[in-house]
Amino acid sequence: MPQHLLSMQALDFDALTAILDRAEALRHAGDCRSHLSGHAVCTLFFEPSTRTRLSFQRAAQRLGADILNFEAATSSATKGETALDTLKNIEAMGVSAFIIRAREDGLVAELAQSAAPGTALINAGDGRSQHPTQALLDMLTIREAKGRDFSALKVAIVGDILHSRVARSDLAALRTLGVQDIRVCGPANLLPSDDTLAGCHVSHDLDEALSDADVVMTLRLQRERMEDGLIESLDGYHRDYGITAARMAGAARDAIVMHPGPLNRGVEISDEVADGPQSRILRQVENGVLVRMAVLERAFA
Ligand code: CP
Repeated sequence: MPQHLLSMQALDFDALTAILDRAEALRHAGDCRSHLSGHAVCTLFFEPSTRTRLSFQRAAQRLGADILNFEAATSSATKGETALDTLKNIEAMGVSAFIIRAREDGLVAELAQSAAPGTALINAGDGRSQHPTQALLDMLTIREAKGRDFSALKVAIVGDILHSRVARSDLAALRTLGVQDIRVCGPANLLPSDDTLAGCHVSHDLDEALSDADVVMTLRLQRERMEDGLIESLDGYHRDYGITAARMAGAARDAIVMHPGPLNRGVEISDEVADGPQSRILRQVENGVLVRMAVLERAFA
């Protein structure tokens, strides 16, 4: 049976840990091109991407799969073809795994209802809902730096949580791995008011959120929010919520800094921190290929 990956909530502790362990094993594996030889996968992206799309393509190449790349802007989606018709047509070409990025919340799960019995769908980010492989690579990056026991970690997530699928998947993964102390910090109008933040310490004071933190996860400020009037100015946002060396002085001495990309340098993070010794940003990207190899293997298991 195909193994979809639609949300982080679909993975319990053992399933999540098994993916991280497999990703870690693949770091030291040699030639893996026989693992998915003869299988075809498609990156079906209805929104732009650099890291997720290319790292899935890299992962598929390293496993020996054939990889097809669909981009909405140059496809018949521009003529009105639906996502489901697109999927069914590519399925008919012998493709049995789809990595899907969608603008609409829940679209990947909806497509999974209509996929053929032998087809696996992987959510590569849908709306503001979920981005499970980003959370997996984030967890691998934290585990590398801080060890396998997450229970005593202090984790701060900073920025626009309201519109962030990364934050929603990270929160689910951190809870599954047993983190007790999750701090969430951002402007009041960029924090969700539903149960997304249940159990988190919510603050609008960055120094309070970073105090003794072991892990600082900052998020891309979605500039389009300025047009919605949710942000007064980029300078003001940087002053109040930007991760700078001065702000990091309040975190644990060996704290790590993470960001899913793409970066707005000088807005949510300073150059000094993004390129500094505490930054794990490019390690996240490196780990993304490994995690996505593990997820593709699981899809065909
Ligand atoms: N982190 C992330 O999803 O980046 P891309 O949008 O470039 O894929």
